[in-house]
Order: sequence, then C-alpha cells, then structure tokens
Amino acid sequence: MRTRTFAGTQVGAVGLGCMGMSWAYGESERDDAASIALIHEAVDLGVTFLDTAQVYGDGDNEALLGRALAGRRDRVVLATKTGLRVTDRATTSMGRDGSPEHVKRSLEDSLRRLDTDIVDLYYLHRVDPEVPLAETWGAMAELVAEGKVRHLGLSEVTVSQAQEAHDVHPVAAIQSELSLWTRDPMDAPGGSAGGFSGDLISGGGPGDVVGWCRDNNAVFVPFSPLGRGFLTGAVTAADFEDSDYRGRNPRFQEEALKANLRIVDIVKGVAARHGATPAQVAIAWTLAQGDHVIPIPGTKKSKYLNENAGAADLDLTPADLAELNDVPAAVGSRY
Ligand SMILES: NC(=O)c1ccc[n+]([C@@H]2O[C@H](COP(=O)([O-])OP(=O)(O)OC[C@H]3O[C@@H](n4cnc5c(N)ncnc54)[C@H](OP(=O)(O)O)[C@@H]3O)[C@@H](O)[C@H]2O)c1
Repeated sequence: MRTRTFAGTQVGAVGLGCMGMSWAYGESERDDAASIALIHEAVDLGVTFLDTAQVYGDGDNEALLGRALAGRRDRVVLATKTGLRVTDRATTSMGRDGSPEHVKRSLEDSLRRLDTDIVDLYYLHRVDPEVPLAETWGAMAELVAEGKVRHLGLSEVTVSQAQEAHDVHPVAAIQSELSLWTRDPMDAPGGSAGGFSGDLISGGGPGDVVGWCRDNNAVFVPFSPLGRGFLTGAVTAADFEDSDYRGRNPRFQEEALKANLRIVDIVKGVAARHGATPAQVAIAWTLAQGDHVIPIPGTKKSKYLNENAGAADLDLTPADLAELNDVPAAVGSRY
C-alpha cells in the first residue's frame, strides 16, 4: 500500500483505529481473539499506524494491543492518549484530567498494559480547561525527555492551542474528527452543524487545523473518517444496542439519520464511478486533504480492513472532490 511519513517513519497511508474493538460500539460484536488476529493481519498488510487510548475500555483496549503486538512492536507506530478519565463505563462517559500527576501516572499504566517501554505518539486526548495547557504539555514533554515517549500529539484543539503547545515542545500530530460530514478542523464551509460544540471548546470553531499541521511539520490524523460507520452506507436505521454510543448521538437519531442519508447517496454515486465502495471514497477524501494526513478508520472485520486499506490507492478526481465537498451539511451535532 502507499505510505505516508510520520516523524520520519514510513507508515501505511491508512492507519487503524482500535477503539471499537473494546469500547463505544456494540458490545455483542466484541471478540478479543478475532481483534488480535485482525491486528496481525493489519501489520502484515502494511497498516502500521495504530491508535488507542487509555480510556478505551478503561484500559482494556491498550491491554488488547499489548497482547496483539507481542513480537510485532517494532513494526508499528503505536499511539495512545491521556488526559481523560472514565466516569461511567456503561455510557462511555468521561471527564477531563490534564494534571501533570494524571498524565504521568497514566503513561506508566499505558506502558504496562501495552507491554512496551516506549510509546511512539502520546496524545493529549482533550485539553482540560482547569489546567493550563502549557502545564499539561510540559509534563508530557518531560516524558519525552525521560525516553518513555517519542513524540507528542493533541486531539480536538484549536489552532491557537496547537501553537501554544508547539512553542513549548513540538506538536508531531493532531487528531480531530474529520470526514465528509465533519469539516470543522478545515474551517471549511459546509462543515458540521454545531459540530465543534461547547462540549469541546467554547467560542467557535478550531480554525484551519489541517493547514496548521501542514505548515508546522505535523501530521493530521482524521478520527471517525467513516462518520462512525455512517458514510459507508451500512447504517440505515437507528436501531443500536444499548452499549453502542451511536444510540445517544444526535446524528444517529431517526429523523436526523434519515436526512443524513442524502450525504451517503452522493458518496455512493462517486464510488460507483470508480468501482470502489463508499467507505473507500470517504477515506480517500480525507487522504486528498494533504500528504500529511493519515486517517485511522476503525474496524473489527478483516473484510473492512482490506477494503479500507485499498482506499490508499484510490485517486479521486477534481470533479469527484468538488462533488464531495458540496455534500449537504449534516443534520445533528456530532456529540
Ligand atoms: N481522539 C478522539 O477523541 C477520538 C474519538 C473517536 C475515535 N477516535 C479514534 O478514531 C478511530 C476511528 O473512529 P471510529 O471507530 O469512531 O469511526 P469510523 O472509523 O468512522 O467508523 C467505524 C465504524 O465503521 C464500521 N466500518 C469500518 N469499515 C467499514 C467498511 N469498510 N464498511 C462498512 N462499515 C465499516 C465499523 O464497523 P466494525 O467495527 O463492525 O468493523 C465501525 O462501526 C477509533 O478507533 C479511535 O482510535 C478518536
């Protein structure tokens, strides 16, 4: 598969989000043995940019990756995140904790669960409004100096927060939601209605975070590039099991979901012209936003893994991109 460069290392242009193997999506489909086999298949395929977080399954997802990567650790770029705490497992509710104590303690826990002595990319999952960013980021930079972390990243930040952190220690990556129905980090018109809600950062959008990354030698990592599965066309009704967080997500409520299917129709049309799948078009659109962009679609299935990896070889034409850029704004906020 085509590759892209993260901090001087070549990785598959399409990465793998591991969250859904242990968290957020329907519990009934979770199968650790199958997920470990899937991670092995991903590495063999060249899907080597792997994403987890301390809070996914309250540590379970990191432990799963630790088991899966035994004997394969040096073949991947392994990213995890700190700065949140699980407050209610059943509803996947989380609170923020950007204190230096939490950041450092959670790294020790992550290293133990991941069964490694260094994390390649350590993200601040969310900025904690109660703790100055420079304080949290400074503590994370100390972990780099101690040789426990190679590079630092941020998630869901504004351009000014990115710059503030960068002035203390280089930002190697920013991970935010970016997909055909969530354009907030591009500061583009036609983005998601109410997408960057006060839940994350009050006072407007984040600015052109994708452009900031390009200009500052950082990669931009689109999370949920498949719109939590919606953009693939596989989700046509609002019938989720209780453990699936989409059942509580505004965009997946019946009326909104029905309206949002207009977006999927356009994606399907572009896919048909290429003999590709809608998932591949959704991923290829994120890749087309710049050579420094490395999306991390999540899957638990070998069929989808292979399909998603194939998106690295799908070149969308200017006409395709124009049509995709014009999809209607999503109905419903993204959280
Ligand atoms: N930084 C953050 O705050 C944040 C937030 C959310 C997510 N993330 C990261 O981003 C990663 C990806 O996001 P995500 O998992 O929320 O959403 P996503 O990648 O947009 O979508 C995942 C969903 O799409 C389905 N899917 C995957 N490939 C498919 C295909 N080819 N055809 C049909 N359906 C397909 C998956 O089903 P199966 O699971 O059944 O395969 C799953 O239900 C996560 O794993 C996590 O690492 C980060």
